[in-house]
Amino acid sequence: MKKILITTILTAITTFPVLADEGMWMLTDLKKQNEVAMTELGLLIPVDQIYSPDGIAIKDAVVHFGGGCTGEVISAEGLVLTNHHCGYSYIAKHSSVQHDYLTDGFWAMNRSEELPCQGLKVTFIDRILDVTDYVEQQLQKDDDPTGVNYLSPKYLATVAKRFAEQENIALTPGRSLELKAFYGGNRYYLFVKNTYSDIRMVGAPPSSIGKFGADTDNWMWPRHTGDFSIFRIYADKEGQPAEYSPENRPLHVKKHLTLNLSGYREGDFAFVMGFPGRNWRYMISDEVEERMQTTNFMRQHVRGARQEVLMHEMQRDPAVRIHYASIYASSANYWKNAIGMNEGLVRLKVLDTKRAQQEQLLTRGRELGDNSYQEAFDRIRDIVAHRRAPLYHQQAIQEALVTGMSFMNIPNTTPLIVALKSKDKAAIQAAADTLRVRAEAYFASVPFPDVERLVAKRMLKSYMEYIPQEERIGIFNLIDKRFKGDSDAFIDACFDYSLFGSKANFEKFMRKPQLKRLASDWIVLFKSAIREGQLQTALAMADANKDYDAAHKVWVKGMMQMKQANGQPIYPDANSTLRLTYGRILPYAPSDGVEYHYYTTMKGVMEKEDPDNFEFVVPEKLKQLYRKKEFGGYAMPDGEMATCFIIDTDQTGGNSGSPVFNAKGELIGTGFDRNFEGLTGDIAFRPSSQRAIAVDIRYTLFIIEKYAGASHLIKEMTIVE
Ligand code: ARG
Ligand code: GLU
Repeated sequence: MKKILITTILTAITTFPVLADEGMWMLTDLKKQNEVAMTELGLLIPVDQIYSPDGIAIKDAVVHFGGGCTGEVISAEGLVLTNHHCGYSYIAKHSSVQHDYLTDGFWAMNRSEELPCQGLKVTFIDRILDVTDYVEQQLQKDDDPTGVNYLSPKYLATVAKRFAEQENIALTPGRSLELKAFYGGNRYYLFVKNTYSDIRMVGAPPSSIGKFGADTDNWMWPRHTGDFSIFRIYADKEGQPAEYSPENRPLHVKKHLTLNLSGYREGDFAFVMGFPGRNWRYMISDEVEERMQTTNFMRQHVRGARQEVLMHEMQRDPAVRIHYASIYASSANYWKNAIGMNEGLVRLKVLDTKRAQQEQLLTRGRELGDNSYQEAFDRIRDIVAHRRAPLYHQQAIQEALVTGMSFMNIPNTTPLIVALKSKDKAAIQAAADTLRVRAEAYFASVPFPDVERLVAKRMLKSYMEYIPQEERIGIFNLIDKRFKGDSDAFIDACFDYSLFGSKANFEKFMRKPQLKRLASDWIVLFKSAIREGQLQTALAMADANKDYDAAHKVWVKGMMQMKQANGQPIYPDANSTLRLTYGRILPYAPSDGVEYHYYTTMKGVMEKEDPDNFEFVVPEKLKQLYRKKEFGGYAMPDGEMATCFIIDTDQTGGNSGSPVFNAKGELIGTGFDRNFEGLTGDIAFRPSSQRAIAVDIRYTLFIIEKYAGASHLIKEMTIVE
């Protein structure tokens, strides 16, 4: 009896190890795979109100914001809510020492004050089609000597075009197709998208609210950040996507969300929609180790070193601070992520989990008499062993020499070299003119050469620290011989003597451009050595990776089939396509004796306040509102003002700005982060330790109305209690 009971429990555990909350679900699978579980957990609406293949649904109010974030439409006239950190680079671009919107916030008090954001795009997903069968057929028909078509974006784009012609899917300006491989090429989906490119900045709180806690609190719970900003979509008179024009008008959208002010309780059902970028749930354990020791290692150490220099300089000069604000933030974000992920992978013994999982599939293969999984596994293992060294070096080059320094951005001097060799005066003049324009753009992008010099010195040292002498890129022959290995002296020479070291040097060179000078220029030489290093590591990686995709496809297929055989739903790795994740608003206990509440309030903002630390400055006006409890009707029943809350949903980078919905599909918050203990989620999901962090919609509305006095925006919204 006891034995039977144990086996039943064991099968129950092995059959349903995936808790309801794991998964970045495809909208097209919701009805078939998830509706029952979602309803059991608390969903109160049919899933076709969330996604309907032909009709209008909540999906039509969820947008891809700027390619890397998510946004949601919150008014009939195209108002889009996203995170402060998603709008950050645009807020920074519009800022100057005189109009410092980063520090002071920005609020358009009428439509004419809304600021156009060059380069910013917002994309709606109009239709999602499972085209697996069609793509498989085309793959059979088309020539493919190297067998790479099945993952090639270029090939898939031609197949998408064929499909559109066959199905009469009309492509008007702004309307485009994207055909993507899922599950390592075991399935294909086609997305019909509408992209708007006149997007204007409407409102952003000061960084002391929108980025409150900055890097200390980033990836952390408990959190008190009002991480939101607001934009508006503009379209031409017909409501069609168009480039910026003063004639454009706010877009009248198909669908906008209803905001709900009544909050949540512990255990409440919630769901989130968004565009998660990448995760790696189908990695084998060797790949996880590789990630820890290469990518994450370099991010942690090299970025850490660069950030130290940058922070020191930023704190000395507000102009430097504004220029590097966004560069620093994007570096710091995945620096801390790498630290948290590596710590968690060890602490949560994720490698053991991965090994157990892969063992399950290998056993299943043996039981079925199918050797393909074992072969794929051995292949991947072998590939990882061979690509480790080039990957490590590639990451060092990328972090220290490419992202870490500005030299890769200098203009190409080859056209001028060619022209000088030809001795053709007109050609020389033309090449010189082009070079001048590009050089001006380069110098404009590095307005603080002294800071760049400090950073470059630090970065070259970092590179030397991690890459042994005999493996370093070619420029070290020169550094070792001409500069006796003194990397600082080399960087000084770059800035003092290279034509791209300063504007003055460039001007001097341009008075009489000489071939000899170009051929021996330090920065030009350095750049081509970095290029060569990139090329060599890329070639070595490509060589090691030759059979990777095919092996990965087999491995993923095995995982899919194993889950399906166990009656479990399946989902593909994130790939910047629209997904849904659901779960509950729940506290968590990261370690023995520690338990975190599931929401925070403004009380915590006041507790964290530190006027001497820029990360925790609280604006005077916010303190006043708090003291007087002027919460404008957005307070909780107990009179406190909620700030953030957590949910046990499954997400990753790209989900920032994602709408968080209650059981009725009403907006209750905007997702913006994940907890430190949950950063291993990109590799393996742990419902007990992973939480998504959202700004409470009531805090957002309170800031808009009471702090910023922008109640004209609130009037546009549909709000229920
Ligand atoms: N960690 C969040 C996300 O991945 C927020 C990042 C913005 N904040 C920052 N300090 N960089 O995007
Ligand atoms: N802040 C992240 C983003 O920009 C989301 C947090 C996560 O990775 O879970 O998308």
